[in-house]
Order: sequence, then structure tokens, then C-alpha cells
Amino acid sequence: MQTGRPHAVGVKGEAPGTPGISRRAFLTQAAAGSGALARIAGGGAGLSAFLAACDGGSGGTGPGNGGDPADTRFRLRLPPAVNPLNLDLTATPTQVDIGGGLAAPVWALNGQVPSPLLRVQRGGRLRITMRNQLPQDLILHWHGLAPPEAMDGHPRFAVGTGGTYDYDFTVEDRAGTYWYHSHTHHVTGEQTYRGIAGLLLVEDAEEAALGLPSGAREIPLILQDRRVDGAGIPVYDPTGPAMMAGVMGPVPFGNGVRQPFVEVDSALYRLRILNGSNARIFRLGMSDQRPLVLIGNDGGLVDQPHTLSSVDMAPAERVDLLLDLRNLQEGGRVMLRSLSFSMLGGMGFMGGANLQGDPLDLLEFRVTRRVEDSTPIPVSLPAVPGPGAGAPVRERTFRFTSQQMSHRINGVEFEMDRIDERVPFGDLEVWTFINESGLPHPVHVHATHFQVLSRTGGRGQVFPWESGRKDTVLLHPFETVRVALRFTAHRGLFLLHCHNLEHEDHGMMQNILVE
Ligand code: C2O
Ligand code: CU
Ligand code: CU
Repeated sequence: MQTGRPHAVGVKGEAPGTPGISRRAFLTQAAAGSGALARIAGGGAGLSAFLAACDGGSGGTGPGNGGDPADTRFRLRLPPAVNPLNLDLTATPTQVDIGGGLAAPVWALNGQVPSPLLRVQRGGRLRITMRNQLPQDLILHWHGLAPPEAMDGHPRFAVGTGGTYDYDFTVEDRAGTYWYHSHTHHVTGEQTYRGIAGLLLVEDAEEAALGLPSGAREIPLILQDRRVDGAGIPVYDPTGPAMMAGVMGPVPFGNGVRQPFVEVDSALYRLRILNGSNARIFRLGMSDQRPLVLIGNDGGLVDQPHTLSSVDMAPAERVDLLLDLRNLQEGGRVMLRSLSFSMLGGMGFMGGANLQGDPLDLLEFRVTRRVEDSTPIPVSLPAVPGPGAGAPVRERTFRFTSQQMSHRINGVEFEMDRIDERVPFGDLEVWTFINESGLPHPVHVHATHFQVLSRTGGRGQVFPWESGRKDTVLLHPFETVRVALRFTAHRGLFLLHCHNLEHEDHGMMQNILVE
């Protein structure tokens, strides 16, 4: 299966003869000031010449027939971590190699997709100047952190082309796998899809004391799905069926690289995974059924390791997994997959355009070195702080509906200046999320973490990956989830929204005033 001409994948197909509106707009905007990209937009000989010129053969073992992108895999990008103290992040249209030398137009921070990997000690400072050189407004949000109001990336803070935004705050949050991404109203989906998203890892002494795999044995991984055109270039098209289901595609990306592989030792690995997709839910599992040991999620480490055959991840959820490859020989291979699944009561139709639940081969591990590794898998983990003792002071209910191309919470679409809930600082509350639609909704709350109390309807249980502290919880069709939470970090205007980014962009979001 791995035979044929090297470096030809994705180059054979020319740009489609009649590009869709969104692709044309994408290229027009992305090509500004770039002769090379203008040639891509023109297609034809210029495209092949350009792509051949940048084909550095940066991975992959060669395509099969060149026409089926599933026939080949490309080397996963593992960028070095940077400290977010005194950092400039400049957003520009540019192009990046998405595997095998195929250059794709993207919107990037500092020219990188994914955005730079940030690593900070708990109690350390994040001081970043964001410079917007995109042809749209932009604001960044630090997903999972609880910074002061003005640092949280509410869309009312978005700055125009040429504008800058200064972030400066102390990272008080538990060690964990957080991330950052665009939060510009109506275009969060588009900007995140085009590349404005990266991981933010917080470390602390408690976690360091566990001696978890680190260095090359710790793999930060952003998983995304993409639709691509005939040339293999990602296309963002939120129209048609995507208005209901959100934007999905059949091609798996890892850290910005299509169909990735990673070369590994026969060792224990720590995978820090973000589902960075706009709409796609993954059911992670290994091709040879080897277990995944879940040690953390959105809010850092969970209270005990869980050995699981599969783990579900909705957009914006994170999991921290130990993957034991010590029984593999040199040359051994195993695939991290998204397994197929179905949703009770879900909308499975939409002219076949709803890819939710389709299987995907996400990342292949290729053992290139046989080593001895005696790193222990922890048998216990430190206790997780809960939302605090005492009886809840009040309850609130949020109803999620998707009807006639409109995505609403409690019957209304988002309005920038309308305050939807006033929540007293420090009070313990129980919030009930009710999905009254046939679509899944990953519900996210800014500025705090919650504890998932129960799920009724649908899957009818709380899963191990939902233990500990969460900032995003998935509701399958017609499920009800109750969570306990308390805002103890900062007063101010924050958000609650669906993290299906097309749903969010269409108004499935509310203003939460912590006062
Ligand atoms: Cu990751 Cu308000 O979002
Ligand atoms: Cu967030
Ligand atoms: Cu939704």
C-alpha cells in the first residue's frame, strides 16, 4: 500500500474548475500580497510548479495512487514550547506546509499553524501583544483559564485590521491542557478553522512530582477534521448542511498536518490532546484495542487514572492520556483512531453531509527505536478540588434548540450588549443544560470550571473523562446535563456558549455577568 511516486500526493489534482464562493473568498483574502498564492488561486501550471517548488518531502512514505489522500501519511509537527511572557503574536494570512510539501493558505499567528505552543508555570504571567493583520476583526480567548474580564477575549473587545490588543495577567489555574483561539463574533469558526488556535500548557509542582512522561515522550496534539478541495487544500464552507451540523470534513489533521504519523520509541507516552475541530466529535481508540489511560481532562488531572478502550471528545474538550507502546517492536505501528459511533435520536440525514460518527485514522505511531522504559503508570492521582461544599444557592436552566437554521439558548440568539444571566460572585449554583434538538451541543462556560453532576436521557451517565473539573461538556441529542459551579476568580462579563463553532457564530451564546 505504501508504494508509488514520492511527494506527489495532493499535487496531481488541480484546483476545481469552478471554485465555490467560500474558496474563492478564502483565496482572495489569503492571497493578498502573495504572488505565490495568487498563482494557486489561478490554478493550472502555476499551482503544480509552486507546490513542486515547496515540496521538501517533509514526511510520508509516498502515496499510493496519488488520488486518494488516505493512501499516505505525513510527519506530525511538534513545535517547541514558548513562554508567554513578553510575546508578540501577529496574525497574518500566509501559507504553511500541511504535509508532504503541500502549501495551503492559512491565517496564522507568527506564521505557525497550529499557533505557537505556550507553556507556563502556575502563578506565572502571560503578557502577550496580539497584532491583527488579518482582513477581519480579531480577538483571542484563553480557553479554560480564568483571567480578568478584559483579558478573556469577549467578542466586544475585537480589534480591526492593523489593531493590537494587550493581554497581561497571572495564570492562576491548575496545571492542565488549555488552549487559545479566535473569539470574534460571527467568524470564530472561520478564523479558528483557518489556523488561529494553539495549545497552552500550565504546569505546577504537584503535577511535576508525578514523574509523568516528558520531553519527547510528551506529545501535544491538536486533532481537527478538514474538508479539502481537489488539490488537497482545506476549504471552509459554513453554508448548506453545515449551517445545521457545523463544518466537518473527511480528512484528519494533527497539529496542522494532514493524515499525520509520528515516530516513537517503544515507551510510555503522554498525549495532551485537544479536539480543535469546529463540529466533529471524536471517539478515540487504538487500532489494536490497546487501552488508553486517562489521567486528565479540561481542568487538569482527574482524581484517579482510568483505563479505557475509548474516550469521547467533543470540540474544545481536552484529554490527557498515557499510551503504553512498550510491547511494540521496532517497525511496529499502531493507529490512534476515531471509532464510528451513532447518536440516539440524532439527525443522521442532511443529504449525507453529516459526517458525525464516521471513523477516521487520526495519528499513526511508528516505532523506530526499541528502548527500555520503566516509567511507572501512576496508580493514584492528587485529589481534585471540587466546586466547594455547601448547598447550592440557586439553580438555572439553559435550553439549547436548533431549528430552521437558528441556534438558540433559552429561545434567543446572542446579542453583544444584552446581559442574559446575572450571577453573584462566589455563590455555588447548579446549572441544567437541556438539549432539545437532534444535534449534539458541546456546552462551554468561561471563567470557571464545573463539576458534572448527572446526565439523563441519551447516554444516561457521566463518563470517566467527565470527572474532575470541566469547562466543556457534550450533550448528545435530547440529553440533559446538570453541573455545579461557582465563579471565584473575577467579576465581569463572561460567556456561555455551544462550542460547535458554527452554532456559536449563529448565536448559540449568552452573556453571563458575574457581579
Ligand atoms: Cu473555546 Cu468561548 O471558547
Ligand atoms: Cu472558553
Ligand atoms: Cu451547538
